[in-house]
Amino acid sequence: MSFQLRKIWTVDKTGTLDNLRIVEDGLPPPPPGFLRIKYSGFILQHLRAHTPGLEFSGVVEYVGEGLRKEEWLEKRVYGVTYFGGYATYINLKSSYVRKTPDGWTDQQACAYVVQGLTAFYALEELGRLKPNQTVLVHSAAGGCGLSALSILNKKSAKVVGTVGASFKLDLLNEKYGESSNFSFILRDPSKNFEARAKKALLQITSEKEELFDIVLDSVMGDWFLPNYNLLKKEGRLVLYGSASLAPNSNLHPIWNAFQWLGLGWKYIWRPKIDPLKLMTDNKALLGFNLIHIYEHEERLGQIFDSLHNLQLEPPYVGHEFDFGRAVEALTLMHSGKSVGKIVLNVKH
Ligand SMILES: NC(=O)c1ccc[n+]([C@@H]2O[C@H](COP(=O)([O-])OP(=O)(O)OC[C@H]3O[C@@H](n4cnc5c(N)ncnc54)[C@H](OP(=O)(O)O)[C@@H]3O)[C@@H](O)[C@H]2O)c1
Repeated sequence: MSFQLRKIWTVDKTGTLDNLRIVEDGLPPPPPGFLRIKYSGFILQHLRAHTPGLEFSGVVEYVGEGLRKEEWLEKRVYGVTYFGGYATYINLKSSYVRKTPDGWTDQQACAYVVQGLTAFYALEELGRLKPNQTVLVHSAAGGCGLSALSILNKKSAKVVGTVGASFKLDLLNEKYGESSNFSFILRDPSKNFEARAKKALLQITSEKEELFDIVLDSVMGDWFLPNYNLLKKEGRLVLYGSASLAPNSNLHPIWNAFQWLGLGWKYIWRPKIDPLKLMTDNKALLGFNLIHIYEHEERLGQIFDSLHNLQLEPPYVGHEFDFGRAVEALTLMHSGKSVGKIVLNVKH
């Protein structure tokens, strides 16, 4: 088998879109235990790596030694890689790949993996979610947020979701507005956020509860302490993102120096909690980065399978772009104005 010519997006300097460019390279034949996948699409992430990209979908074009051809060849699949995923082809160990469920589009398949694993890990593994619990989910119309709502719906949880812009409420109300288990609010302004979140929860709980068993926090900053205060005793605050400390446009290191200084100021003075307080309040703070779990293949496989067993509905794909329009797509992602996942389609 010969090398496969492919295109791949790389970035010379992380954190800015200006240096993002497409290069061509030759992908060697897949080693034993690996599959070669011809991409249909992939998902955007923030540019923290030189060859960014984690999740994708496509078709198995070549099956490495030690794997059964009947099981894999020409099957539609999705999977997750450790960066290098903004490409047109990939070689990947079969343990990181799963078959696309019947009836799902390729776009839905690639939008499912990382957000699903993140929401599952946050809620089930760290949050220890139990039926009928009360849960606060930030950025509820984003990819991870929507996956969390889908899991919480299965568990009949009482959920308050927040969004950063009012147009996102339409999508959420359309999907969950009929259910008495969901209530959605605008996160801004941060003033009175605690009171507004309590009021939203009171509207959907018969026991008139106003505190949460679990809070999923992907925004931090001004919302970190209110999130902590909104926890019940024995409640769990699960931290997995810090969107409010990130720029919401492609900031130039020199021309946007003031905005960078503003972000630096926010970062330095970000609210913190004394660990002694955790004991007196009887609350837990937990954080994670899924990347660390990627290195533990078996562990990731278990989470993959547990997520699969929940039989969630296909994820919501909010935006689609062609392969060559990654910069435009990333600009939309950084703006915080996207809903659901942003997919880049790969045509061969
Ligand atoms: N720890 C992990 O392992 C892990 C894994 C996956 C994702 N994450 C993180 O989890 C967060 C959500 O991921 P996702 O996949 O759901 O992303 P997404 O679909 O792009 O949604 C991100 C949401 O964050 C909110 N946001 C607030 N300020 C923002 C800003 N300055 N720039 C961009 N977005 C901003 C926006 O919603 P609202 O304005 O409505 O709040 C936006 O819709 C991200 O911060 C991501 O880095 C962490």
